[in-house]
Parts: sequence; C-alpha cells; structure tokens
Amino acid sequence: MKLKDGHTEVKAPSLTRRYWPVFGWPFTLTVVLVALEAACDVLQPTILARLLDEGVRQGRLDLVLTDAAWMLLVAGIGALFALSRNYFASHISLSCAARIRSDLFRKIVSRPVDKAALDDPDSLLTRLTNDITQVQNFLNGAMRIFFKAPLLAVGAILMASLLDPGLAALLLVIVPLVLGILAFTIGRGFGLFRHVQEQMDRLNTVFREFLTGVRVIKALERGSDEEQRFAKAAGNLAEVNTRALWFMTRVGPMVALLVNLGIVAVLWLGLQSAEAGDFRPGHLIAFVNYMTQILFALMMATNIINSLVRARASASRISEVLNAPGQENPDTEREETDLPHQAAGLEFHRVSFRWPGGTGDVIRDVSFRIEAGEFIGIVGSTGSGKSSLVQLACGFQHPHGGSISRPARSHIAVVPQRVNLFSGTIRSNLLWGHPNADQAQLEQAAEAAGAKEFIDGFPDGWETRVGRGGVTLSGGQKQRLSLARALLRQPGLLILDDSTSAVDSLTEAAIRTALRALPGKPTIVLVAQRIASVAQADRVLVLDEGRLIDLGTHRELSVRCEIYRDIIRSQTGWEADHV
Ligand code: UTP
Ligand code: MG
Repeated sequence: MKLKDGHTEVKAPSLTRRYWPVFGWPFTLTVVLVALEAACDVLQPTILARLLDEGVRQGRLDLVLTDAAWMLLVAGIGALFALSRNYFASHISLSCAARIRSDLFRKIVSRPVDKAALDDPDSLLTRLTNDITQVQNFLNGAMRIFFKAPLLAVGAILMASLLDPGLAALLLVIVPLVLGILAFTIGRGFGLFRHVQEQMDRLNTVFREFLTGVRVIKALERGSDEEQRFAKAAGNLAEVNTRALWFMTRVGPMVALLVNLGIVAVLWLGLQSAEAGDFRPGHLIAFVNYMTQILFALMMATNIINSLVRARASASRISEVLNAPGQENPDTEREETDLPHQAAGLEFHRVSFRWPGGTGDVIRDVSFRIEAGEFIGIVGSTGSGKSSLVQLACGFQHPHGGSISRPARSHIAVVPQRVNLFSGTIRSNLLWGHPNADQAQLEQAAEAAGAKEFIDGFPDGWETRVGRGGVTLSGGQKQRLSLARALLRQPGLLILDDSTSAVDSLTEAAIRTALRALPGKPTIVLVAQRIASVAQADRVLVLDEGRLIDLGTHRELSVRCEIYRDIIRSQTGWEADHV
C-alpha cells in the first residue's frame, strides 16, 4: 500500500519512540530479570571448575559438597528469574500489541475521507492483523531470549577471560566474525521480509475481491480465472517467503561451524598445555562449557534475528499508518441536542475540482447559491460530476479552486449513491444515524423513507438481521433503509445522491412528498436520473461535463435549456410541454 499523501517526506517517529514512554519501564525491568538469569547461567561453569580442580583433584569432599550446593542454589535462583521474566514477557507483549492495534484502528477511523479513499483496505487489514502479530512475537521473544543472548555471550566471554586469559584470546577472533555475519543478515533480511508482507497484502486483495464479487464471478463464469489468480498470488507469497527464510537459515550453520572450530582449538591448546605438564581438567571443561554457552547464545540470537527482521519490516508498515495524517477528533462536531437541525443553505463560489490521480477537472468553475429550506434537484448525464459535487458539498473532498460555504458536517446527512448497510439488525442500522432515537422516531423516519411497510412485513420486524447471515434485501429496500437512516439525523441539509433509483415511481413520489413535509423543513438536494424526480423541485441544477449549465425551475428550464430538453426527450412519456 502507498498512503499517498507524501507523509514519508517528513521524518516521522518510529514505533519504538512512540511506545517507549508507555512500555519502556516494564520492558527494562524484564530485561534486568533476564540479565540476572544470564548471570546465574555464567556462574555455573566457574563453580564447576573449582569443584573439579580443587575438590575432586585434591580429594576434599567438603569442597565438593559446598560447591555442589552452590551450583544448586544458583540454578534455583536462575529458574525463579526465568519464571518471572516469562510472565512479564507475555503480559507486556500482549498489552503492547493490543495498544498498537487500537491506536492503529483509531487512526484509520480518523483518516479524512478524501485521504482514506486512497488507502488500500487489504493492506490496512494485513497491517492491523499480521504485522502487529509479528511485532508482538518479536517483543515476546526479545524479552525472553533476545537480550539474554548478548548478555550470556558477554558474561561467558568475561568469565572465560577471568578463567584463562590465554585461551580467551581465541574469542577475540571468533566473536567479531559472528557479529559481522549477524549484522549482514539483519540488513539484507529487512528488504526480503518487507517483500513478504507486501505479497501477503496482494493475497488478501485477491481473496477479498473474490468474496465481494462472488456473484459476478459466477455469473460471468470466471471462477477458474479467479482460482488461477489466487494460485498465482499464493505462489508468489510462497516464493518470496521461501527466499527470505532460505536466506535466514544459512546463518545458523555458519555460526555453529565457527564456534565449533573454536572449541576444537580450545581442546587442542588444552592438550598442548597438558603435554607441557600443566593439566587442569576442570579448567578445560569449564572453558568448553563457556564456549558452548556462547554458541548457544549466538544460535538463539540468529533464531530471533529472524523475528527481529520481520518485526522491523512490520513495524515500519505500522508506523506508516500511524504517522499518516488524520483528524484528531473526527466526531467533535457531533452534538445530539437541538434536533431537528436548523435548515441551512449551501453556496459554491467558482469551485473547481479534480479527483486525486484523475486526469482532468470533473467540476469546472461552478457557482450557485441554495437558500435554507429550498428543494433543489440536480440532473446531468452519467459522469457529468453529480456525485463529485455531492462529495464536495459534504466536505469529503476539497476543491482546488474556489470556495464552498456549507453547514458543519454534523448538520448534513447524505444518502450516498452506493448503499452501505452494516451487519446487524434493521434497528441497529438505523440507529447509526441517531444513536438515541426512540421507537417513535424510528417509525417516523421509516415511514417517510417508504420503508415502514416492508419492515413490518418481515417476521422479525425491526429485529430482522441484515448483511452477513441475515436476509438479503432488494436494491430498493436497501436504498430506503439508507434514506431512513439519514432522516433520523434530522439534518439541516439533506443530500440524496440518486438514492431512489431502485425504487418504483409511485413509491418514489410518496417519498418525495414525505420529504417536503419533514419537520424543520431541511434544505434538500436531490440528485436524480429521472426528470420526473426533480420536476416538482423549487429549482433544478443542470450539470454537463462538470459545468453548471443552468439553474432554474422545471418550467423555465424546459423552455430555455437545450440539454435539459434533451434529457426530457430521452425519457419516454415525457415531453417538454407536458408539465
Ligand atoms: P461522478 O461520479 O461525479 O459522475 O463522476 P455522476 O454524475 O455522479 O455519474 P452517475 O450518474 O452517478 O453515473 C464524474 C467524473 O469523476 C470521475 C469519473 O470518472 C467521472 O469522469 N471520478 C469519480 C473519479 O475520477 N474518481 C471517483 O472516485 C469518482
Ligand atoms: Mg453519481
């Protein structure tokens, strides 16, 4: 996904900078626990060396027993630390993920409509789910072993140097080599895993398009094409994932080889000194123990680097969304008091507009003024810019030229051309318009929108489930519910974008009459295909190719406006002089 508003040009805060103030403290505490646990681990071989070289070799049972007791005690304390850091690690990573998830969701909700229209929903979904899970896994792993690995390695190197500075010189060669390999892996792997997440987006897109378009796909018998598209997307994901993981798996064996060569060298050097007469088996065993601890630590590090690299790629994708522009409080304008809202006018002054990414202006130098309480019709051929004009009037899009004066967003209700109902009951859907509406208000709105009759006709009435798992409503029924939902807001300005196109003419006429009789007498802007729908309007606005051609009553226009007359002629049964 590209969040296309150029926000990447600004240096935006990383995920770490954003959440450190919240989770920094518990995180640090857990890392301290891990450090203590690592300290317990690295003490063991040194005690063992003393037990063997002083206790066993000199045959002193008392030394053997106290050292054994020490080893037991240290192991016990280590286990306690391990237990508590595990608890904290799970707790912190889960609550951090939950926090990021809700912040991300809030940001997505707050995206201005014009920007949000450009966001890729599938990519947002992947970010909200999979990407956050990657970060969570990493956090969890980090607090369990990621920090333990370097601590263990450093501790082991330190103790080994104290035990035998000569042998420890070997480590000066091996450790930098291993660190070099790890650094290289992190750098390369980042790009690879970013690619993996992008392919995941792609797979989600294909799958969602199939789900939403399943009927069209079946109707056009394109099922097998879809299967191929899905197989291709799945194949791509598998391929990039394999490439990334193959790259990561080579690290482990390389590190193991290096450290094992080191152990061989230690044993060989130990043998040399034994031949020279200085044979201390405990010493040698402890040193090999440290080497294996270092090996173990580095192997753990390589394992979790896999998850670090993935998490880094995911974190940057999450940050992109969190840092994208949003409105702080999108709903602050909302107030439920003073219903119905007072009728409000609308004025366009030399407005020009083009869609982001579009090739030309779809609204060109349009000026008009609608008085409060007027009933305005808008007609124009398909693609003439009617819906674009509606989007501007609602403030969802912004003109690049001219100015618009309109009431606050909370005073406007719009019934969009494409109906969008939510899964739930008919009642819950209508309540989106006005959460505190009572039954009488619901009935009133449904009545005015011509929806009451069919709602009462359902066995479950207002509790009928729609959307997923519910009844399938006809196009006209959906449009009427969508209208009722808008009416519940009792707006000062009501905009209907072709909202009765799927309703028969008789019902439509009844709805129009009801709209004119609404309490508070709101300003109504009604976009329509049929001249019959706007013939009774106070004035009609004629759009053509984004230009305002004329604005007048039906009678005036049918005399003076050529385009209006063309539209009338094209609609059978309607002649200019019939009205
Ligand atoms: P409109 O969607 O405003 O036309 O598109 P309309 O008058 O409402 O058409 P109907 O009657 O509903 O069919 C006007 C122009 O804006 C472009 C379209 O391609 C069209 O040329 N457009 C519309 C976009 O570029 N992006 C959009 O999101 C919507
Ligand atoms: Mg339209």
